[in-house]
Amino acid sequence: MTRPDTTTKHATDVSAMFDEVSPKYDLLNDVLSVGNSRLWRLATTRAIAPRKGMRILDIAAGTGTSSAALAAHGAHVTAADFSEGMLAEGRRRHAGNDLIDFVWADATQLPFEDDSFDAATISYGLRNVSEPKRALAEMARVVKPGGRVVVAEFSRPTSDAVNWAYTKYNRHVLPRVAGVINRDAAEAYKYLNESIESWPAQAELAAWLREAGLERVAYRNLTLGIVALHRGFVPRAKPQPVAEAARPADETKPATKKPAAKKPAAAKKPAAQKPATESKPAAAKKPTAKKPAAAKKPAAAKKPAASADTAAKSAEQQKQPKQQPKGATPKTETNERGTE
Ligand SMILES: C[S@@+](CC[C@H](N)C(=O)[O-])C[C@H]1O[C@@H](n2cnc3c(N)ncnc32)[C@H](O)[C@@H]1O
Repeated sequence: MTRPDTTTKHATDVSAMFDEVSPKYDLLNDVLSVGNSRLWRLATTRAIAPRKGMRILDIAAGTGTSSAALAAHGAHVTAADFSEGMLAEGRRRHAGNDLIDFVWADATQLPFEDDSFDAATISYGLRNVSEPKRALAEMARVVKPGGRVVVAEFSRPTSDAVNWAYTKYNRHVLPRVAGVINRDAAEAYKYLNESIESWPAQAELAAWLREAGLERVAYRNLTLGIVALHRGFVPRAKPQPVAEAARPADETKPATKKPAAKKPAAAKKPAAQKPATESKPAAAKKPTAKKPAAAKKPAAAKKPAASADTAAKSAEQQKQPKQQPKGATPKTETNERGTE
């Protein structure tokens, strides 16, 4: 079993690890989260507020469980991931669901035009991305002005006692239980634990969303902060992300211009990382098209998977970043429901 290095999170290692756990990924999730993953999923879906006709990008969609929860509300979902194993499992499970398109994509180089989606979301994926800030900037880029970006991710429990027990569980129980369900998965779950421990707490992730140019950033803790739901909105007048704004004037690009780094993942992907398969959707190969992959109907999927959720709530106010996008609210809002 591949166990990625937590400091580098090299794309080939992370995608290989998910390829290997893909057949039992959802079962493992349910067991290891003691059913809470379904409750977290419900809260995430509510935060995205999917509606019929909306186009939503679900990046790091894995087997499409998160996408199916959105499609169940009538939204067209582009389920993007860079693990062929997870995508294959998703296509198999959701075969026939015309509202979900599975597309190969790297979160750091999305193969979509600017302003392609009404909303973008990532559940339990951002932590695995080698350059998470870049992935957030990409999400902000492909979402239309006024649209929302929602991130569900493991976070920092709000109480020391819960944090202590949770850390022990993740370090000692989780890899063993995972190993019983899938003998090869123990190593993967050791990596997952390490990645959770090294992931920033709620306030820092909120600051990253602002850095990506999102406004009205807020978060909500679920199950005492074991998971946090962050959301932000793309400003009506899109600002430049902080990283770009900080460049010398002659290097700064207009916000509407697609940067070179945002070239389609498919075009840049090393051959070893992603073998060509027949199931690769046309959308990933036609990056210049304006419409999101969802409109292009790849080998699609069916059946919305169930998801439910609950969550303890706790929100905190955040400070504004130094470079606040024009028109953004002066301080972070908190919203108990995580939605607007
Ligand atoms: C823990 S799974 C989450 C799947 C799904 N969102 C869910 O909620 O069940 C994480 C997924 O992130 C994907 N992933 C990690 N880094 C990625 C990247 N840079 N680009 C695209 N997908 C990525 C992995 O392949 C994996 O399928």
